[in-house]
Amino acid sequence: MTPQTRNVVVLGSTGSIGTQTLDVVERLQAAGIPLRVVGLAAGSNVELLEQQIERVRPDIVSVLSEPHAQRLEARFPHLRVVRGGDGPRTLASESGVDVVVNALVGAAGLLPTLAGVSRGCVVALANKESLVIGGSLVRAALHEGRGRILPIDSEHSAVLQCLDAGRRGDVRRVILTASGGPFRDTDPRELARVTPRDALCHPTWAMGARITIDSATMVNKAFEVIEAHYLFDVSLDEVSVVLHPASLIHSLVEYRDGSVLAQLASHDMRIPIQYALTYPDRHATKLPRLDFSAPLAFEFRPLDPARYPAFATVLAAAREGGSAPAALNGADEVLVRRFLHGEIPFPGIAAGLATVFDRWQAEVEGRGKRGSGLAEILAADCWGRTVSEGLSWP
Ligand SMILES: NC(=O)c1ccc[n+]([C@@H]2O[C@H](COP(=O)([O-])OP(=O)(O)OC[C@H]3O[C@@H](n4cnc5c(N)ncnc54)[C@H](OP(=O)(O)O)[C@@H]3O)[C@@H](O)[C@H]2O)c1
Repeated sequence: MTPQTRNVVVLGSTGSIGTQTLDVVERLQAAGIPLRVVGLAAGSNVELLEQQIERVRPDIVSVLSEPHAQRLEARFPHLRVVRGGDGPRTLASESGVDVVVNALVGAAGLLPTLAGVSRGCVVALANKESLVIGGSLVRAALHEGRGRILPIDSEHSAVLQCLDAGRRGDVRRVILTASGGPFRDTDPRELARVTPRDALCHPTWAMGARITIDSATMVNKAFEVIEAHYLFDVSLDEVSVVLHPASLIHSLVEYRDGSVLAQLASHDMRIPIQYALTYPDRHATKLPRLDFSAPLAFEFRPLDPARYPAFATVLAAAREGGSAPAALNGADEVLVRRFLHGEIPFPGIAAGLATVFDRWQAEVEGRGKRGSGLAEILAADCWGRTVSEGLSWP
């Protein structure tokens, strides 16, 4: 029997994961895998979106601004164009969509994830913020619907593969690897002087700006701990983090008999993207492979909490629960932007997050605003942004 074509929408198609997803889809199509990209959602990079429309011929696209929407309507008269912040959710809610690739950055990813899961789609999830801020909502939607989340994050793709090799009841802990970012060996006294350009030089991965800065502060790794907690139904304490500068082992799972399973691959995000699109099948690729004829570095180091103070702050917010992680995610989005614009020094991101969390505990929790419903999450996100916009440094 010929397999049915699976209809895919790519949210954040103009970003790092989005562009790599389109590359993977084209490679799979060339290999005879029946996938069709029916929708693309971008933010404001309309030039790249136009090229993508020419290439993949989607039925529907979404952009943020009205002028960009009008430009697309004029150039592609048969295309459905939606506009505004709700566009990605509209695409994820389209009937006939089988797979939603959520490669949006930030809190904007939550509603499309909920929409895709509620409709029974596979959500290939790069947007970890969906789970960081709304993990309990997504989990509830998964329980109610027939949807499934498959991780794109290389660490979580690795964990999924290691878990599939054993029994859940035998798992002792999940171990996420971290490169340590560009400042893993920098003298901490120098960090106040590092520039956005220094921080954007990730030692192993080429990624979007926010996740690159979040990797330097380890906010990203704390987010990944929360993501693992929701994806694999393990407690926060059952997820450990270890520095592995070479980024060859993408993560590990330790079983109760002491066996530790690891997943290795060259650091190319197209490998986990493809696995999310074809799971549980594996297809041959021409993507880079590990070369075992040359020496490979399998060094591990413990994470130094003093070097990465934001890691503990974000996890403290996760333990607090409710909408505290949403407040910190909103704050981090603003603090990262302010650092990139030269408004605050690099250590100001971690310091700002600590301040926001302290205020959250004192002001917001004190007033009983601890809920984790959608309205509370969106309000906490907004609160975190406002507070961090107002923070100043001497
Ligand atoms: N990059 C990686 O290697 C990697 C690895 C693992 C996980 N992730 C996760 O994947 C997600 C995406 O990361 P990325 O590095 O690909 O980010 P990115 O390069 O900054 O791309 C973000 C994409 O989202 C679009 N976008 C942003 N805000 C939007 C909004 N409000 N409405 C509609 N579209 C919007 C952008 O559009 P425009 O550019 O057109 O404005 C762009 O297409 C993040 O959650 C990140 O943590 C990334």
